[in-house]
Amino acid sequence: MVQRVSTVAFEGIEVRPVDVQVQVAPGMPAFTIVGLPDKAVSEARERVRSAMIASGLALPARRITINLAPADLPKEGSHYDLPIALGLMAAIGAIPHDAVAGFAVLGELGLDGSIAPVAGVLPAAIGANARDEGLICPAACGPEAAWASPEIEIIAASSLIQLANHFKGTQVLSRPQPKILEVNGAELDLADIKGQESAKRALEVAAAGGHNLLMVGPPGAGKSMLAARLPSILPPLAPAELLEVSMVASVAGEIEGGALTNRRPFRAPHHSASMPALVGGGLHARPGEISLAHHGVLFLDELPEFQPQALDSLRQPLETGEVAIARANHRVTYPARFMLVAAMNPCRCGRAAEPGYACRRGLNARCTADYQARISGPLLDRIDLHIEVPAVTAADLILPPPTEGSREIAERVALARERQARAMPPSGYRTFAATRRFPAPCSRMWHGRMGAGCRCCAKPPMRCGSRHAAIIACCVSRARWPISTAPTKSAACTLPKRCPIARSPMRSGARHRARPGKWEPVFRPDAR
Ligand SMILES: Nc1ncnc2c1ncn2[C@@H]1O[C@H](COP(=O)(O)OP(=O)(O)O)[C@@H](O)[C@H]1O
Ligand SMILES: [Mg+2]
Repeated sequence: MVQRVSTVAFEGIEVRPVDVQVQVAPGMPAFTIVGLPDKAVSEARERVRSAMIASGLALPARRITINLAPADLPKEGSHYDLPIALGLMAAIGAIPHDAVAGFAVLGELGLDGSIAPVAGVLPAAIGANARDEGLICPAACGPEAAWASPEIEIIAASSLIQLANHFKGTQVLSRPQPKILEVNGAELDLADIKGQESAKRALEVAAAGGHNLLMVGPPGAGKSMLAARLPSILPPLAPAELLEVSMVASVAGEIEGGALTNRRPFRAPHHSASMPALVGGGLHARPGEISLAHHGVLFLDELPEFQPQALDSLRQPLETGEVAIARANHRVTYPARFMLVAAMNPCRCGRAAEPGYACRRGLNARCTADYQARISGPLLDRIDLHIEVPAVTAADLILPPPTEGSREIAERVALARERQARAMPPSGYRTFAATRRFPAPCSRMWHGRMGAGCRCCAKPPMRCGSRHAAIIACCVSRARWPISTAPTKSAACTLPKRCPIARSPMRSGARHRARPGKWEPVFRPDAR
């Protein structure tokens, strides 16, 4: 007789049902697993054998065959240990034959019979609930599974013996309760930052519109400090967003203690990160940093130091909000709707903009242009706001702490997002692409205010109707006043052709010619 246990395989954050078929037949003693198992699944043999012995059960000296159906779907991960063990226990009569019928099972076994936490319990629970099944999972993952539905039956055990006792009725396990992660310690606050009012305002506008942001400034200007405080002004995740974010974190095995959090993710990978680390993939498909930053912030500090190939791989996800990873043996799609915040020095030595500083490597402008040319134009094109963060002065540092902190700014951001949600179709988190579709008011007012000091404008200043202008104007109509950038042009902007921060005059000109007079000057100062 063949014993069947239901489990799942993961394809991105989607789950595919897998049937674990266990046969104990007469013949030479053997233990075989078939159905495209990877190394971790093949090694389940040894873990299951040891865990059963540790739980007081001996494997029969017969021919044991485990088939993971469908046989053509690759099986990865260690979560097949528990369904295999329960199938075997049912086959040898250690638990009732129908004990695990109507349950999806996943969990990793230790040699002592303990059940260790595994990745992907939340999507597995959601999948099981959709198929009207219950879930058997490790005790540590129980609270995570409980988020799937209040109705789903969950058995969360910490050892094989506990499970056997539960099925016999001698020790009934209670249903775990959903848990939310408590934030320990005080959150970083924007009130810690002295001066830098323009940069703080830019951060607020970026947070309100979900815009990508690039900060350029000398070392020690406080760029990393500003970025680290961005989560403190972002609104908490909405329930639908929370579920999406948690599904990605669950598949990546990043949910600790089964507790979910409604705080937006903030990911800050080191600049040595490879392309698979950023966008996902590798031998076993895994979500990358951009997917782990879904509905949150991806902070790339020292942007030009990242591998150019890794940076350019962000271009497509920035537009589409998802990343499709295709390899020879799998093709998966992960959501990646994130806000890109980047920081960089203006040049390699970082001091080119300092008055009177002479770079040892040659002209200041050349040092700047060489450094900034590491970032491709199309990537810069996708960053909506480019701001200059000037060095903080001693006078700023001795100022008393600002009266306005993250709490007040977060309130304004939440208000702005609320207004956007009312004005725009319910597409949720605003992306660059979404912003582009938004009918943009004219930015003449914006240009009037910015004048020659506009950091983003080449010569002549960016025209109404250009993509960037539309986005800024979109912020303007929702913010109290336009974001101000550094009062003076940077040295880089005196060479617009070489300055990647400045929009290419040729390109913005071409756009303008393509849509002459498209946008009429309509600025609504009362729009808040
Ligand atoms: N505006 C500021 N207010 C208070 N401290 C600051 C400010 N700017 C920089 N600092 C101090 O300088 C340190 C370095 O700042 P950091 O954010 O790492 O600079 P950057 O990333 O621009 O090189 C911070 O840890 C902080 O102590
Ligand atoms: Mg820094």
